[in-house]
Amino acid sequence: MSKYIITVDAGTTSERAIIFNKKGEIVNVSQREFEQFYPKPGWVEHNPLEIWETQKFTITDVLEKQGANASDIAAIGITNQRETTIVWDRKTGKAIHKAIVWQDRRTADACEVLKTVEQMDLVQHKTGLLIDAYFSASKIRWILDHVDGAQERAENGELAFGTVDSWLLWKLTGGKVHATDVSNASRTMLFNIHTLEWDEELLKMFNVPKSMLPDVKSSSEVYGHTDADLFGAEIPIAGIAGDQQSALFGQMCTEPGMVKNTYGTGCFMVMNTGDKVIKSKHKLLSTIGWQIDGKVTYALEGSIFIGGAIVQFLRDNLHFVDNAPEIEAMAKSVEDNGGVYFVPGFVGLGAPHWDQYSTGLMIGLTRGTQKGHIARAALEALALQSMEVIDTMALDSGIEQKELRVDGGASANNLLMQIQSDVTGLKIVRPEIVETTAQGAAFLAGLAVGYWQNKEEIQSLWAIDKTFEPSGVDVEDVKKNWSRAVERAKAWVA
Ligand code: G3P
Repeated sequence: MSKYIITVDAGTTSERAIIFNKKGEIVNVSQREFEQFYPKPGWVEHNPLEIWETQKFTITDVLEKQGANASDIAAIGITNQRETTIVWDRKTGKAIHKAIVWQDRRTADACEVLKTVEQMDLVQHKTGLLIDAYFSASKIRWILDHVDGAQERAENGELAFGTVDSWLLWKLTGGKVHATDVSNASRTMLFNIHTLEWDEELLKMFNVPKSMLPDVKSSSEVYGHTDADLFGAEIPIAGIAGDQQSALFGQMCTEPGMVKNTYGTGCFMVMNTGDKVIKSKHKLLSTIGWQIDGKVTYALEGSIFIGGAIVQFLRDNLHFVDNAPEIEAMAKSVEDNGGVYFVPGFVGLGAPHWDQYSTGLMIGLTRGTQKGHIARAALEALALQSMEVIDTMALDSGIEQKELRVDGGASANNLLMQIQSDVTGLKIVRPEIVETTAQGAAFLAGLAVGYWQNKEEIQSLWAIDKTFEPSGVDVEDVKKNWSRAVERAKAWVA
């Protein structure tokens, strides 16, 4: 029996390869950031070749660090930033344009035009999504419109579309497999989440030729093998899930009603809704969690576009701190936010507002404002955005949560978790392994190849690190002022 599973975790700002052992523990990691391109305000691009080269490096590197070789690896699981759109030439394997990232707003106006009552209904009914530039469909359309001859080449079957999972699967298998899983397909706005097929009517709406699209598979099966030349021998690729769905699985939120919140680049709150699609009345998304052994599990999602990225913004754009953990110390240096609110609408606002034209806003600055107040306002922004989503989820599902499972990098921040508990009134539960996104994909891959036998076996590997209970501090003013600040951030882009 091979010793390990590797998760390929293709995030928005970095790629990682993580080795898991049979106990579901992380035994080694290789991580590398890659370049973000911002060619115009509101545009965000990645270089697909760099995504692949970086990912390949991390896999080779983590094997080397562990002193392992390909035959020690039972399977690879892929988890990825979702919606990000890549179109490539099937013959050359070269992308015809940079990847258009999920955060990119260039197609906001084109989406606005599509928002008739009938079309919004149709899209929500079929895909569970709202018409928005966030999803892949309008991004594919943009590439086909702006790269010379692309529409014709696509119609001739020369081009392939994929989200980052498909792109990596294609590259890992040496161009042999063009596939995705249901969870990623459900983020394209072209996939019918009821019939589990690409939807002809939606393909027509966006004029996307079907021949470009990947085969849609379950989230746990052998899709193909890595090209033997890459890592010395073939390795089965046996699990794929979009990062948020993967985290839901890694958190073992396997029963309907269970919710997790991941604090990554964005913040994504997802609730397992079992075999039912809950149609949101409050602008949440219905989406596919995963498909295992033919059985589909659906989910309700609140997508917050800027989460941990607010800290990156303070560090990289404003040089406010040297490293992210400094924010917690700085925020602790003050008693409260001093009246400062920071709405991170840098790429528009997602759930529950869905305003494509918001920008970032800091308000409440006075002569007494200290750095600590701004740091505190940044952390509160993560917690308050998440609070809005959990409140909305209760309205849509009729389920009042008692606790919230948390994961992702920023969940390590104790002050943030305490604020989260205070503003939601919920018990916050942090597991021992907060890299549940990567863990979920490892579980999906491991289940497919028999490395783990069943869900019960992996369930026993999940354990709590720390819980946070509401401290009783009065948060009513903070909540009220937050709502006022959000309203001011809206509709700013002319
Ligand atoms: O939908 C976008 C999401 O998949 C990105 O996740 O972890 O990079 O914030 P993350």
